[in-house]
Amino acid sequence: MSRDKKIAVFYYSQTGQLADILHSLLTPLVNKGCNVVYKRIEPLEPFPFPWTSDQFYDIFPESRAEVPFPLKPTDFSDIMDADLVVLGYQPWFLAPSIPVASFLREKETQLYLSGRDVIAVGGTRNMWVSAIKSIKERLDEAGARLVGHMAFEDKHNNLVSVLTIFRWLINNKKEATKYLPAAGVSPEDIRSASQYSKYVLSALEKSDYSELQREIVASGGLRFSPNIYFIENNGNKIWGSWAKWVLKKGGHGDPARRFRLKIFKWYLLTLIFAISPFGSIFFALTWPLRRRSYKNIEKDLLLFNN
Ligand SMILES: Cc1cc2nc3c(=O)[nH]c(=O)nc-3n(C[C@H](O)[C@H](O)[C@H](O)COP(=O)(O)O)c2cc1C
Repeated sequence: MSRDKKIAVFYYSQTGQLADILHSLLTPLVNKGCNVVYKRIEPLEPFPFPWTSDQFYDIFPESRAEVPFPLKPTDFSDIMDADLVVLGYQPWFLAPSIPVASFLREKETQLYLSGRDVIAVGGTRNMWVSAIKSIKERLDEAGARLVGHMAFEDKHNNLVSVLTIFRWLINNKKEATKYLPAAGVSPEDIRSASQYSKYVLSALEKSDYSELQREIVASGGLRFSPNIYFIENNGNKIWGSWAKWVLKKGGHGDPARRFRLKIFKWYLLTLIFAISPFGSIFFALTWPLRRRSYKNIEKDLLLFNN
């Protein structure tokens, strides 16, 4: 029955992590006879990997402000008859990565997505809330329906995963050390992405996605962490002003903004390592006052389409 179902998959991946997650999720569908067509989103000028520290901070303002970058054209001709779209994403500075954000803003993409069902799949450190909100806005604009969302995370402690991700993205050292675990989403969690394929297949076959998100959440494909949300939500508000402040000095790569980026870098490191632990203590102490409102936030974020 599923033999003629076609899935169009759009994604960008620097290290291959998101690509691995998508393959793990979608290979069981291929084995059931679905035609899965991968479309890589490619910036006209590739982003570096590994990043130098300067390159990494220099991409902050454009990431946060979602400034579109030029992409290589996408050929939609062989996926016009797709029954479902899967959109892979990774957050960059709490927004969808520049390639994904740029892709979603292109006119051709918006036309293609109009009227389609979309499942978003994130390969993240642990902060995906602002990114999926932005993606949902773009999909709404295009007239597409977000029918499912799962996000894969590094499940280690927040500060530990900051250290390991810097080591990975800037020094290309992903493996564990004596003191630190390996960076990124664990291989077990990447493998476990395949467990959600049965829910996707069943919804696809029935063309009914009304239960999909509940099934994903019930089986652990999207988890809400109040403490991480608290940090992300506060960070995201302040970062908008920082991005604007740096952008006033010039665009991507402009040496005129170097000084402001340096200040941002030190602000960010102080925030993460010196202030956020106190923020977490404050959060724990005030949790009884927040519990109720956070239950609603959790429901909205996890079951957006219900
Ligand atoms: C510039 C940059 C900023 C990032 N910011 C975030 C972030 O805000 N939240 C998060 O969970 N992960 C963040 N990450 C991690 C990515 O979302 C992603 O998990 C990692 O880069 C591996 O993705 P890949 O499949 O593209 O290699 C960031 C990565 C980069 C390169």
